[in-house]
Amino acid sequence: MTSTPPDPPAARPRVDSRSVVYEVYVRSFADSDGDGVGDLAGVTAHLDAVARLGVDAVWLTPFYPSPQADHGYDVADHRGVDPLFGDLAAFDALVERAHGLGLGVLVDVVPNHVSVAHPWFRQVLAAGPDDPSRGRFHLRPGTGPDGRRPPNRWRSVFGGPAWTRLPDGAWYLHLFAPEQPDLDWTHPDVRADLERTLVFWAERGVDGFRVDVAGGLMKHPLLAEVRRGEPHPHWDRTEVHDVYRSWRRVLDGVRPGVFAVAEVWGPPERTALYARPDELGHAFAFEVLQTPWSASALQRTVELQLAAHREAGSLPGWVLGSHDFERVASRVGRERALALHLFLLAMPGSFTLYAGDELGLPQVDVPREAWQDPQALRSDGEQLSRDGARVPLPWTPDEPACGFTTGTPWLPQPPGWEAYARSTQEQDPTSPWSVLRHALALRRTLWRESSATVRWIDPHPGVLVALRGEAVAVLNASNRPHRLALTGWEVVASSTGVLDQDVVPPGACVWCTVPPGVVAAGAGTVR
Ligand code: GLC
Repeated sequence: MTSTPPDPPAARPRVDSRSVVYEVYVRSFADSDGDGVGDLAGVTAHLDAVARLGVDAVWLTPFYPSPQADHGYDVADHRGVDPLFGDLAAFDALVERAHGLGLGVLVDVVPNHVSVAHPWFRQVLAAGPDDPSRGRFHLRPGTGPDGRRPPNRWRSVFGGPAWTRLPDGAWYLHLFAPEQPDLDWTHPDVRADLERTLVFWAERGVDGFRVDVAGGLMKHPLLAEVRRGEPHPHWDRTEVHDVYRSWRRVLDGVRPGVFAVAEVWGPPERTALYARPDELGHAFAFEVLQTPWSASALQRTVELQLAAHREAGSLPGWVLGSHDFERVASRVGRERALALHLFLLAMPGSFTLYAGDELGLPQVDVPREAWQDPQALRSDGEQLSRDGARVPLPWTPDEPACGFTTGTPWLPQPPGWEAYARSTQEQDPTSPWSVLRHALALRRTLWRESSATVRWIDPHPGVLVALRGEAVAVLNASNRPHRLALTGWEVVASSTGVLDQDVVPPGACVWCTVPPGVVAAGAGTVR
């Protein structure tokens, strides 16, 4: 008797340094149980909409057990699911659905710090001052009379000193909120435990990792002060690369080439080092967020990133928004934001799209009494309230809370939010959603596998014409319409949603296929 062989497992979605990754801020994406906070089952239920948009993978922000002091970036257990978001079965269902739709899944790994509720820190609090468990954190005596002053002058990213005093008089380091004590990465338990976490999720089916605060793990051994002209005592220290080389060995041991991307700040020649193939393999190129709306500035950012990554053996990870920044539609304006999306989607590398940016969502002015972000609260509003970029998404125009929840959203949606609803945008061929859907579909054939080299051709003031492979991206950053005076070019995508074959309006970006002659000569033929 012959038995039918089981179906071969579906091919694993490919996530690599040319993918488009969609960042799902889990709290704000979709709520399945009416508590007002987005959750894993809510993500699963809406993955079809993500797949329709045409991205390659989703990145899920932390859903691990956590007191939520920094909305999940204060992790109490790296290998579990907070009941607020579901359970491991809900996570498995999400991965299965995503893979069924051809989407990869990335999870966030938070190695720099844990929550004060993590068992290791609880042990510190419970045990006496000489307990070896303290070695997993940075605990130091204070300075000044009775040790009343912190050990040094390091500042927390969220404002105030980076040190908090325990009842027994010792001080512990936290580069972020006091609820997020920093781990001491020279301690072997710390390295071993995080590597177990990577294996846990990789074996559970995830396709990659986004590494939080990747540049912060190593601290100056004597906790030296910040001094101009000297390597920073806690950001981007060279020793950190040894950690990522060991992660790469661990990840490749589970499945060769598991994707990983560093959240790291600094000049391109430093951040690209995290993207070396024997390390994480990929790194975010954040400075495009700070690049002014100018053709020459954008060209320079792209060139510097490409050069640094070429040297490192990788490609840049372009980013225009995340749960940490002001929404790009407010930062540069809605039309320019779409133009920048098209421009960077045409560049060699990956692109990370922040959920809601495909709807053109603006930054919301969340009323002060509704603020939740520790950065805004701790700096008393001096720093950006990231809440404004985290307002729950509008799905439909006519349901309560725009279809996000049947309860009360954890951050208030502003009046008029329904105007951005995804269901309406899917029906409108000129909406931001439709423009991006069209571009993402085309990107797969036009750019994804294309040359890693960009040539700037056909120069005009304020206009960038980037030739890559057999197509060009034309960004008009000037104030005047730009006439496409070239023969044989065909406009195949436009940030305006209208395929005008002659003119690129100010603030727009179009993609054109070009005749082989242009590709060979690297220059345009004027009509
Ligand atoms: C990263 C996260 C941010 C968080 C911080 C501390 O920058 O993106 O949201 O507050 O790390 O974990």
